Amino acid sequence: MGKWLCVVISTMVVMFSEKDACWIGHVSLHNFLFPENDDDSEDIHKRRLQKSRSEEDGRKLIDEVILHDKTDNCKQKPSQPLLLAVVLLTLICISYSLTYHHHRYNYISHAVSNFTLGIEIRWNSGGGTDQRYVSHLEINWDEISSVLEKLSGENHGIGFLNFNETEISDWKKHIKPINENRIVNFHLDPVDRSVTWDSLYPEWIDEEQGEEVPSCPNLPKIDVPRKRIDLIVVKLPCVHKGNCSRDVGRLHLQVAAAGLAASSPVKHLLFVTDFFPIPNLFPCKELVVRQGHAWLYEPNLKILREKIQLPVGSCELALPFKPRDGNYIGNVRREAYVTILHSAHVYVCGAIAAAQSIRMSGSTRDLVILVDETISHYHRSGLELAGWKIRTIQRIRNPKAEKNAYNEWNYSKFRLWQLTDYEKIIFIDADLLILRNIDFLFGMPEISATGNNGTLFNSGVMVIEPSNCTFKLLMDHINEITSYNGGDQGYLNEIFTWWHRIPKTLNFLKNFWIGDDEETKEKKTRLFGADPPELYVLHYLGLKPWLCFRDYDCNWNSDIFREFASDVAHERWWKVHDAMPIQLHQFCFLESKQKAQLEWDRREAQKAGFQDGHWKVKVQDPRLKKCIDNLCSWKSMLKHWGEANWTDDGSFNPTPPVVRLKIDR
Ligand SMILES: *[C@@H]1O[C@H](CO)[C@@H](O)[C@H](O)[C@H]1NC(C)=O
Ligand SMILES: *[C@@H]1O[C@H](CO)[C@@H](O)[C@H](O)[C@H]1NC(C)=O
Ligand SMILES: *[C@@H]1O[C@H](CO)[C@@H](O)[C@H](O)[C@H]1NC(C)=O
Ligand SMILES: *[C@@H]1O[C@H](CO)[C@@H](O)[C@H](O)[C@H]1NC(C)=O
Ligand SMILES: *[C@@H]1O[C@H](CO)[C@@H](O)[C@H](O)[C@H]1NC(C)=O
Ligand SMILES: *[C@@H]1O[C@H](CO)[C@@H](O)[C@H](O)[C@H]1NC(C)=O
Ligand SMILES: *[C@@H]1O[C@H](CO)[C@@H](O)[C@H](O)[C@H]1NC(C)=O
Repeated sequence: MGKWLCVVISTMVVMFSEKDACWIGHVSLHNFLFPENDDDSEDIHKRRLQKSRSEEDGRKLIDEVILHDKTDNCKQKPSQPLLLAVVLLTLICISYSLTYHHHRYNYISHAVSNFTLGIEIRWNSGGGTDQRYVSHLEINWDEISSVLEKLSGENHGIGFLNFNETEISDWKKHIKPINENRIVNFHLDPVDRSVTWDSLYPEWIDEEQGEEVPSCPNLPKIDVPRKRIDLIVVKLPCVHKGNCSRDVGRLHLQVAAAGLAASSPVKHLLFVTDFFPIPNLFPCKELVVRQGHAWLYEPNLKILREKIQLPVGSCELALPFKPRDGNYIGNVRREAYVTILHSAHVYVCGAIAAAQSIRMSGSTRDLVILVDETISHYHRSGLELAGWKIRTIQRIRNPKAEKNAYNEWNYSKFRLWQLTDYEKIIFIDADLLILRNIDFLFGMPEISATGNNGTLFNSGVMVIEPSNCTFKLLMDHINEITSYNGGDQGYLNEIFTWWHRIPKTLNFLKNFWIGDDEETKEKKTRLFGADPPELYVLHYLGLKPWLCFRDYDCNWNSDIFREFASDVAHERWWKVHDAMPIQLHQFCFLESKQKAQLEWDRREAQKAGFQDGHWKVKVQDPRLKKCIDNLCSWKSMLKHWGEANWTDDGSFNPTPPVVRLKIDR
């Protein structure tokens, strides 16, 4: 009789939901009835409640969470007594169903999920299966058998994810031997329709939690089975051919499989897909074997567990806004700071100052610099003296770049992944300063970075895990993936679409937007101006401090660079410069042409009468008196500067002073 009661109630609930009660989504009902099953969303509740500023806010947030299934076609709310009756009856029904299933199956969680599943299928009214999860890939049984040979000898418990009944019975036919009792067909609730890639990777979040507490959407998880599972088999969809690395369903399946593997624990994962799984979650070094569409992984569960703890996406910070420095121990010998100079000796001085700043922050990690053959011995000697270990690399050409274009060789950055004598590296651009120790960043997984725009990360500071096969992965797709800006940043963002947001204080872009009011400007300036500074890393956008006169920031003298101008940031850089060994100062000397350029810009600023008045400063920079090339009379160069037919005599060979190396610093 209880069974029939259940059927009646289920039908009622379904009718009710389809008619006018679409405002209770299955999530809210599920949460309401089984709060313990959904501790994530409850967690968010709690955190939001604790942190939200007023009662009012809290109210709004709860409504948002509970009613987040609300859709536009909800016209009216149902009457309260009717709702109450349905909920009560449902409760009775479920408690019956629980005991009923309890006898037949050994564990409740499964029965519960089966019950909710029963409702949900009808709940997604008319929808059937969620298209975001459907893979149209033909399963090639030969590939699967061949891959599974690697696991021979054990009697496996297999968990299927995203396989339908037909496919599972096909599996039983083709893959032998298989023990019926050791098969579990996992069910994963699809993620809410409102969850898009953009909502998982918002361009901006309130990191300081000044106005709101950022939170990530909830991705349903799989209940951990009581049965022992040795292998999880997952079929991954690729809905948008060519760019399925940003498919939400595909991500969700991988995150759910990873969560299951980490907590179950499960030794192997087999993905059936035509496109590589997320490399940060399932790095290629854990790939045991791949045959066509079958990818067999043996994950490092300890590491996977750590990754699963991080927020999914960059909708929340993966590190607290004010990380505690000084506590991280890590593996000193296997971790390094790395930068790269692609055929750009003007950055040598920047790299030297960056090294100085790292040592001043108290870090003793190795410093490694990648240079190509265009960097002279002279410049290398300076870099070594500053503490950089030099690795000479072959440049990597971007096949899609124009010849001699600014970005032709930017893919050389991929060589970072070849530094396999290190487990982790913190990559830094050569135009930034480390103001406080950031060794704790070595504790973060690949790729941790700050946000750039849209759903993308900024490649100026990144945590990377070197690996020859990841390097190969990057090279393998070089002809097929197009970078939005032709640079490495665009490319890396296509491969590592899943990344972790670190606070922007770890890669603070020195930039004062036109819209910034005085208060904002002051606040920003305080971040790097205070002593000790609040920022960890200051990234010098615009004209670089060592290419300006040290008297003031030359970004002031030009319309297009003004947004980058800050005398305080400029002074900060020179303080680090002055702390460098005196022998290193010569690497920051100005070429005659640069002096002429600076003076030219100053005169232009004077003509335009810029309000800031920096052009009035009488320049005292002692570097004006040092000449490192054979064009020393730079003032005469100014006579024809700016004319269309002006040609510089750029063919000189610098004859720099010889440095005496004292590498044992
Ligand atoms: C779930 O329900 C289906 C059909 O209603 C049934 O065949 C299956 O055995 C159930 N599984 C579990 C684990 O309860
Ligand atoms: C199961 O998946 C296969 C594709 O692998 C598809 O052709 C078939 O229609 C599906 N069956 C059901 C019952 O959905
Ligand atoms: C993938 O590309 C298609 C067009 O090529 C576009 O419509 C779609 O939005 C893209 N999907 C994602 C997730 O970026
Ligand atoms: C980011 O900005 C660049 C230009 O600055 C643009 O080309 C690109 O489409 C943007 N990306 C996203 C995801 O918004
Ligand atoms: C990566 O490849 C280089 C040669 O290209 C080799 O020297 C190095 O040992 C490899 N690293 C690992 C961890 O296999
Ligand atoms: C490419 O590298 C050059 C330095 O060689 C740098 O100036 C430029 O900003 C880079 N471009 C992109 C798009 O990353
Ligand atoms: C360059 O052009 C200027 C006029 O703009 C002219 O006076 C000068 O003679 C030219 N110089 C050369 C080298 O052609």
